[in-house]
Amino acid sequence: MLTKKYQDFSSLIFYQVYLRSFKDTNNDGIGDLPGLLSRLDYLKDLGINAIWLSPYFKSPNDDCGYDISDYCDIMDEFGTLDDFKVLIKEMHQRGMKLILDLVANHSSTAHTWFQESRKSKDNPYSDYYYWFDNPPNDWTACFGGSAWEYEPLRQQYYLHSYAVSQADLNWENPQVRKAMQAVVDFWVNLGVDGFRCDVLDQISKDFIKKQNGNGPRLHEFIHELFGRPNCEPIFTVGECWSADERNIRELTQDFRKELSSVFQFQHLSIGTRDDYGVTGVDLSQLKAILVKWQRFAIDNDTLYTLFYENHDQLRYISKFGNDQELRYESATMFATLFYLLRGIPFLYQGQEIGMTNSYSQSIDEIRDIQAFNYFHEHKDKLPSDLLMKAVNFRNRDNARRPMPWNASPHAGFSKVEPWIPTYRRYLEINVEKDLQSPKSIYRFYQRLLTLRKTHPEVTLGDFKDVQDVPESCFVYERSLRNDKLLVVINFKDPTEINLIGFDSAKLLLSNYDHKKRPLNGFYEPYEIAVYSL
Ligand code: GLC
Ligand code: CA
Repeated sequence: MLTKKYQDFSSLIFYQVYLRSFKDTNNDGIGDLPGLLSRLDYLKDLGINAIWLSPYFKSPNDDCGYDISDYCDIMDEFGTLDDFKVLIKEMHQRGMKLILDLVANHSSTAHTWFQESRKSKDNPYSDYYYWFDNPPNDWTACFGGSAWEYEPLRQQYYLHSYAVSQADLNWENPQVRKAMQAVVDFWVNLGVDGFRCDVLDQISKDFIKKQNGNGPRLHEFIHELFGRPNCEPIFTVGECWSADERNIRELTQDFRKELSSVFQFQHLSIGTRDDYGVTGVDLSQLKAILVKWQRFAIDNDTLYTLFYENHDQLRYISKFGNDQELRYESATMFATLFYLLRGIPFLYQGQEIGMTNSYSQSIDEIRDIQAFNYFHEHKDKLPSDLLMKAVNFRNRDNARRPMPWNASPHAGFSKVEPWIPTYRRYLEINVEKDLQSPKSIYRFYQRLLTLRKTHPEVTLGDFKDVQDVPESCFVYERSLRNDKLLVVINFKDPTEINLIGFDSAKLLLSNYDHKKRPLNGFYEPYEIAVYSL
């Protein structure tokens, strides 16, 4: 039996806003809260009903806000707490929920907690971070180099799993856990509806097994944080790179009061065999992964997440689809493929107009600390053309160029040069143009999301992978009692499909201009069709 909470949450459709690059209103080149406010109706019309807002807290911005120096205040460039209050009020009036990004694994070294902690071995904050006389292991940081940094003041090393200025908080210390509860309560009291929890599986370390995450106290810490009565109604989703089936089941079981849902990344970790380029997705591999997790989610009543882009990932159609002449077709194909599965859709800004990667031409254009560090670590090791290729392959700036709202200078994002170079293809790909085009990706999303909302078999129904289809196709059925949908996905080559036993199929959605689309027959490259049965 699906709980009421499960049913409520399963109607959520999220849109992730990377505020810095969304819309600038005071023309300093940086997106801001009033900018998001000015686009709420655009988002509502798209069909989403919830927003995940990337970090907007005080920060030196070494890692674009994921290095927080005050968890309970707004970054100056983004606006004020009053702007935030207006935003949340306006969102709630439109029936939209807001979740914020809780970066609990680490703080900025500019945070007062760290500034105090580094001073000595015996001060009220001395145990807020992991301090050792010598590095206890050889962990490397995600953004390059050793994960241990020497602090001369205290004459000890501290752990940083990411940048040197992102020190890992010591969750073994009850004061740290209390402090993070206070952060959660502060925002819940202001009306936020939940949290996306940054690299949450890393808050418990296993120094014995030597793994930086998924440690023995993970469940306990999360339960302590979110299992409290005031967190009962909120929606929480943990970014958990290491999570396997067992972890996810435990993290999300309702009675355990840990998380509502989890992001896992198996489907994004494929197609990356060659270190310097993208090799394309192997559909059978992708299919196998999605089928496995659909079964898992349904058999365990787990709220699964449906996403394929975010601020850390390459643009999907550039990575796995066609970002040139079949851009519309491949963008709409992937949207259909993912968002009619069982789970909660998460769209990332720009996805709704089919934004593509925007490769950096030189190091001056790079803002992403990970790509920047990678460049410097490899600049003497690789020939220059290969170097930029390798950098761009992991450059998170690809997904962080400003939203192109129209074809005016700086793409209508700002009146001045933005903090990161303008999206290269903005004249050709922008919101205004997309909305006017007969092949509007935004309008396709509207139809797709409407279909999702009006067919409970999508949100609550069963899933079946239809067998005996050509290898380059994915056909699945979603059903709830007597209602059935059939989703036909064709990958890049024209393919003939011949299915027996679906005589009553009625076309509901197509991404080609067919007057009629019989179920059986030839499918064009990246063609999709959705039928009711
Ligand atoms: C997460 C965020 C990423 C950030 C990292 C460190 O993976 O999504 O943007 O750099 O954590 O906070
Ligand atoms: Ca601004």
